[in-house]
Amino acid sequence: MSKTEAAKSAQVVEGAVHVASVAGKSIALTRVKGTVQAFENKCPHLGLALSRGKIEGSAITCPWHGSKFDMCSGKNLDWVNSFVGIPMPDWTHGMISMGKKPAGITTFKASEKDGAVLVDL
Ligand code: FES
Repeated sequence: MSKTEAAKSAQVVEGAVHVASVAGKSIALTRVKGTVQAFENKCPHLGLALSRGKIEGSAITCPWHGSKFDMCSGKNLDWVNSFVGIPMPDWTHGMISMGKKPAGITTFKASEKDGAVLVDL
């Protein structure tokens, strides 16, 4: 494992996602209570980008079908419940999930040094 510069520290702010390409992977960077967090910019439901998701505290909600994840631990907090932001009734959730079981997101160790954000893939 090696640390790779993914962004400048100033580019990574609380409440927003900065997307960087590191070693061919799309990595999402944000801050939670001031600390940089890094996770794969890929929802485990259908593999779509999480970067435009809604952030609340340490959680991000996938903009496509509403699955929610903790950006620090990667833990799944909620599984598919909407369609492009439109809440869907409970009986549709099984169809929207398309057979995919709840899963977490991949997180990476992130640190800062000399004004740069380093990610350890
Ligand atoms: S792609 Fe994220 S919940 Fe479906």
